[in-house]
Amino acid sequence: MELSSETVTQVRHWSDTLFSFRTSRPDSLRFQSGEFLMVGLMVEDAESGKPKPLMRAYSVASPSWDEELEFYSIKVPDGELTSRLQHIKEGDRILVRPKPVGTLLLDALLPGRRLWLFATGTGIAPFASILRDPDTYEKFEQIIVTHTCRENTELEYGRQIIRHMQCDETMIELIGRANLDKLVYYPNTTRETSEKMGRITTLLKSGEVFDDFGIDGLFAHTDRAMACGSIAFNKEIKDILIDHGLEEGSRSEPKQFVIERAFVD
Ligand code: A2P
Repeated sequence: MELSSETVTQVRHWSDTLFSFRTSRPDSLRFQSGEFLMVGLMVEDAESGKPKPLMRAYSVASPSWDEELEFYSIKVPDGELTSRLQHIKEGDRILVRPKPVGTLLLDALLPGRRLWLFATGTGIAPFASILRDPDTYEKFEQIIVTHTCRENTELEYGRQIIRHMQCDETMIELIGRANLDKLVYYPNTTRETSEKMGRITTLLKSGEVFDDFGIDGLFAHTDRAMACGSIAFNKEIKDILIDHGLEEGSRSEPKQFVIERAFVD
């Protein structure tokens, strides 16, 4: 499929290692909140000296109704793409392949009462999309988003999205006050002091999370989950979900949970 050249409309640097950017959206692009796209830049091929596209997978962080696209990225000093991408400015062009893919789809989950969104690091990106989609709230009574990062600054992007949703009149009108009341934000840090310290996996295993919410645990008949983080995190959370009797679903066979790797590392 053809690559689409899009205009960067906003860049925000959250720390030395994290930034987000918004771009125009290809006219032809339709996607479901939670999916990812290939995004990149034209670079010079080291051997031939000719321009070539350098593309990497990025979860779309904006919801499907948004007329722009938003992405959230780490900056890897020697990363082939992010070492360049971190310098983009408003007005620059970036490449987008308008072919969405991914497993973090509401359609891959059976109806349930509570939705857990478990993220580490930049794994919050697909959930920034899903959380801003009104459809999410129609399907569940409660949505708990957990975000585990090393330090507090790494939580800021997700924290501000949730704060904006709960304060911005347009967002309140779009999602609905009653729906926003279903949303619970549960951030954790592992290497800096904060209100809730520890890996979410540890907090789940000890039962501390359930105590914090006054619930008995995770159950296949009520709970649904999506997880997005590092390979090690995904493996650990998957084992926990399976231990609680939940099964991994897909669009063709919806079940109780879905998992995807946080991209660009
Ligand atoms: P920790 O600081 O204990 O390694 P990273 O920056 O390495 O991708 O990690 C992002 C966050 O995810 C960190 O808070 C890290 O905790 C946590 N993390 C890493 N691996 C796991 C895992 N297997 N289970 C749960 N949390 C993890």
